[in-house]
Amino acid sequence: MRPTPPIVPLYLSAPDAVRLVRQLGLPACLSGMADAIGEDYLRWQAFDKTARVAHHSPDGVIELMPISDGQHYSFKYVNGHPRNIARGLSTVMAFGVLADVATGAPLLLSELTLTTALRTAATSALAARALARPDSRVMAIIGNGAQSEFQALAFAHLLGIDTLRLYDIDPAATAKLVAHLAGSGLRTVVCASTREALQGADIVTTVTADKQNATIVSADMLAPGMHLNAVGGDCPGKTELAPEVLQAAHVVVEYEPQSRIEGEIQQMPADFPVTPLWAVLAGQASGRTKREQVTLFDSVGFALEDFSALRFLHRHALALGLGERLDLMPRLHDPKDLFATLAKAPASSGRAPGHGHALPHAHALA
Ligand SMILES: NC(=O)c1ccc[n+]([C@@H]2O[C@H](COP(=O)([O-])OP(=O)(O)OC[C@H]3O[C@@H](n4cnc5c(N)ncnc54)[C@H](O)[C@@H]3O)[C@@H](O)[C@H]2O)c1
Repeated sequence: MRPTPPIVPLYLSAPDAVRLVRQLGLPACLSGMADAIGEDYLRWQAFDKTARVAHHSPDGVIELMPISDGQHYSFKYVNGHPRNIARGLSTVMAFGVLADVATGAPLLLSELTLTTALRTAATSALAARALARPDSRVMAIIGNGAQSEFQALAFAHLLGIDTLRLYDIDPAATAKLVAHLAGSGLRTVVCASTREALQGADIVTTVTADKQNATIVSADMLAPGMHLNAVGGDCPGKTELAPEVLQAAHVVVEYEPQSRIEGEIQQMPADFPVTPLWAVLAGQASGRTKREQVTLFDSVGFALEDFSALRFLHRHALALGLGERLDLMPRLHDPKDLFATLAKAPASSGRAPGHGHALPHAHALA
């Protein structure tokens, strides 16, 4: 019997992901991910898509996000717990797997917390490139927590935003964002309210965390020609925009069946008109049609973006020699004889399976 090849997926830890971003450079990561996500959105029909599976609890949500293009399969595990901050934990934490469809073998097990911030910002910028006025230079960011630096830098690098108007109910969060952006060349203006932050903004990013139907932006704060990048409303009962804002805007969504449940449009009737992002990117549906039009990317985060991000990580981790091989699957001499693995101590990572070990006795293991 031919010994089965060892299945040793690459494991990319949180420190490895930091090394990868440092070695490639943050701008290259953001633009590389935006390109990868854009290319996959253009292959929309190739994907087997499902709305994510969500487990809701009073404090938050845990979600599984699967997708496949027939060659690769991926899923992300991600939570959203706005009250975690008070416990010293992140609101959003994630990890994920990329696998080979032909064999089902996992190829990569990776951190996705940092990666979620990168891919969300890259997707936001990708959508804004198609929806915002090309001469947009000023962006308001409402909610200055974990995602905010990534949003700021993605819009600076990919759209040419040069001024940020910032507001958070927590002034320390805004101070952290300002400190991180010092030296980036971006001009930051700290504002006393959302309304003040939106004054003069070409683009408005809402990225707050609050498990309720909040009204961060109301229709009277809008100006003609604004683009809204609504990131924080991503769960049933968790929204950021007044319904009148949606009525006033040309609304673009990622995957409509999921967005109807989780996006800002959950507040609207089931037939409220929306346009899919893939169709805008493919030139099959209109993005911005008039200078004074208000456009809205109702982002909730779709599995395709994590699929693209995992493939990006896998490719670059292999090229840079980052990560380690993980003994996640049993090493079998005979693929039909799983029981034999109990006869010996587990082989350590990277070692070939042992030979000539005794067959286990079931009664000795019971
Ligand atoms: N659409 C997506 O793909 C996607 C991806 C990642 C995160 N998210 C969502 O983005 C949000 C932010 O995530 P995070 O990791 O930055 O969370 P975070 O907890 O680190 O930051 C959220 C910030 O929002 C502020 N905030 C809360 N209510 C506010 C209000 N009314 N006005 C102004 N600021 C307010 C908080 O003080 C905090 O600083 C979350 O709701 C998360 O679920 C969406």
